[in-house]
Amino acid sequence: MTLDDKPVVHIVGLGSIGALLAVDLLRFAHCSVVPLFRSKKRLEQFQKEAKSTVGVRKLFLENSPLFEQELQLGSSPETFNGTHINNLVVTTKTYQTKDSLQPYLPYIDNNTNLILIQNGLGVSDVLRNEVFTDIEKRPNLFQGVIAHGCFQDKDQIFRFNHTGAVDLKVARLPWDPEQIVQSYDSLSADVQENQLARLLTSQPFSKEFCVKFMTYQELLLGQLYKFIINACMNGLAATLDCENGEIAGRASGVFKLISEESLQVLKIEYEPFFNYEKRYSNMPNYPSLAISSVLNTAKLVEDVEYIACVLNAKSSCSMRQDILYLRDIEIDYINGYIVNLGEKYHIGTNANKMLKEMVNLKLHISRSRAATKGK
Ligand SMILES: NC(=O)c1ccc[n+]([C@@H]2O[C@H](COP(=O)([O-])OP(=O)(O)OC[C@H]3O[C@@H](n4cnc5c(N)ncnc54)[C@H](OP(=O)(O)O)[C@@H]3O)[C@@H](O)[C@H]2O)c1
Repeated sequence: MTLDDKPVVHIVGLGSIGALLAVDLLRFAHCSVVPLFRSKKRLEQFQKEAKSTVGVRKLFLENSPLFEQELQLGSSPETFNGTHINNLVVTTKTYQTKDSLQPYLPYIDNNTNLILIQNGLGVSDVLRNEVFTDIEKRPNLFQGVIAHGCFQDKDQIFRFNHTGAVDLKVARLPWDPEQIVQSYDSLSADVQENQLARLLTSQPFSKEFCVKFMTYQELLLGQLYKFIINACMNGLAATLDCENGEIAGRASGVFKLISEESLQVLKIEYEPFFNYEKRYSNMPNYPSLAISSVLNTAKLVEDVEYIACVLNAKSSCSMRQDILYLRDIEIDYINGYIVNLGEKYHIGTNANKMLKEMVNLKLHISRSRAATKGK
């Protein structure tokens, strides 16, 4: 089998978000998609059980239609044909990123475009310090912050349910954490010249998947906001094993502690970003951002209360679901990230530390109980 001259997108992590993206890329963009599985065994399962086909049911559309796409070119570390990887989408869980990239590192270089589409913060630090240590060979890095919801079907492993489509925010992620400010000119250059940026912003894909390509500082505002909301809500609802609405009006004290601590360390780690509003407001060629009115404790607590607990009262956060199914959780890249920053800057982050410990204990107890039951 040969690949035609369409852009080729490799996807490592054909789970909920990876499958959603694969199906819609094939439906709406001009490209080939190659899923990269964790092992030959997983690849063969995809080929035999699912006939190399991935399906996504759009639950929010009338009659919940199922869209299926064949992905003939799937590969694994054992079968990979050794071609250069031009575009790589990473949709594993945060804590799986390093291991999932390891087998493909010889095929990734400074001509590769790599996009992380994951929740949480801290993966780019792992890539910088532990994976792409040779500066000359670092890929062009992008970050996606996704507000689509998707989960795996109970009965079929390569079938997924798309629960809601909001948007996918995308920006070029700087390798140097100090270089967070990007101009509209640099954004346009990427959209015109970079193959992955061109593909993600091409029509009709961009419209159908609600892609918003933006400067890094614009993305960071949305990413930090979402991060703190998750830091307040996920670990707490998972530890208490409750739906979001069950703690409505009762948890603002905890939300306040988490938000305050998080903002304190994030303001140091992302100092150029928190100074951006003063330095760049009304500068031509740079977006204006309302950072202080969005990233402050009072506003964040109010939003977690209203958006997470009231508007999404019936939702069960992903971390609670992960514990329910005894899967690993992404806590090290949410509250754990804040704890690490606290250690780095010698600032106490006890509320985040406590939540991290509690949710890990909850997972441990759930696993122990399941093991005892199984005996
Ligand atoms: N799902 C959502 O609605 C949603 C919404 C917003 C953000 N997110 C974020 O998006 C990210 C992905 O979430 P998800 O829900 O799509 O997770 P997921 O369904 O668990 O998918 C992760 C996929 O990565 C694969 N994987 C793990 N290790 C691998 C390896 N070494 N090599 C190749 N593949 C590997 C897993 O394969 P195996 O099955 O073989 O383990 C799985 O298919 C997370 O950071 C999550 O927080 C998710």
